[in-house]
Amino acid sequence: GKVGVLLGGLSAEREVSLKSGNAVLAALKSRGVNAHAFDTGKRNLDELFEEKFDRVFIALHGRYGEDGTMQGALELMGIPYTGSGVMASALAMDKWRTKLLWLSAGISTPEYALLDEHTNYEQVAEKLGFPIFVKPAREGSSIGMSKVNSVAELEKAYQLAVKFDALVLAEQFIEGSEYTAAILGEEPLPLIRLETPRTFYDYEAKYLLDDTRYLCPCGLPEEQEKAIQAQALKAFQVIGCRGWGRADVMIDKSGVAYFLEINTSPGMTDHSLVPMAARGKNIAFDELVIQILELANV
Ligand code: DAL
Ligand code: MG
Repeated sequence: GKVGVLLGGLSAEREVSLKSGNAVLAALKSRGVNAHAFDTGKRNLDELFEEKFDRVFIALHGRYGEDGTMQGALELMGIPYTGSGVMASALAMDKWRTKLLWLSAGISTPEYALLDEHTNYEQVAEKLGFPIFVKPAREGSSIGMSKVNSVAELEKAYQLAVKFDALVLAEQFIEGSEYTAAILGEEPLPLIRLETPRTFYDYEAKYLLDDTRYLCPCGLPEEQEKAIQAQALKAFQVIGCRGWGRADVMIDKSGVAYFLEINTSPGMTDHSLVPMAARGKNIAFDELVIQILELANV
């Protein structure tokens, strides 16, 4: 069949998506798939319909690609697509509502507060303690995000974050280590541990620099890794996710895992995390792409 790779798009993560999409496209072609790139930021939906794709691989990140809107359009057009459906995509895009659902399901997530122009920042600082992460609730790749150490910085960080989303989240910092748990089908892949010399694993660390250390195997005792993988799968399923995705998680010094978010259309660039986790299970990049495509909602 004819496969479309949706890439680019209109979100702040457009550049990342172009990289993800081109890597996916090359992998599909190397496996003899009749695959074509389709830039949803440059072309209209009626053209997407006219292409008569038998299925599409969504390599879009952020708004209008990862947030359920494109998934809804594809449902209406009757085109099978990779990854999560409308509801789970929309929910996972929203870090605040993800937390509400996780808390009600007994999944740990860092304490938080919502910020707006009327917020008493002193009270937020008292509740969460410094440092505090400030993030737009519905963004990706750490865009608009800050790590702050004072009330004055907290206000400034809000001003930055609100440029990207009216919904802004202040989140407690978990002292410990950062990990990510990729999910493929119903299977968690090996955990990756991230060590950055920077203040946090920000956009530069993710895409522009090479100073992050990635550990896979992650160094946790096997039992503990298995337990966290199981929690990650539950965190994924509670949101209603399917196909593939990636849960980001902090593990504190006593071993408690605090889930930060689910990415329903994670990066697939050459130094992205899901491909790295797949390699940890001897799944090469092209094979990973084929498996995700086969898991589409046909
Ligand atoms: N939002 C980026 C693409 C990721 O989660 O990998
Ligand atoms: Mg994200």
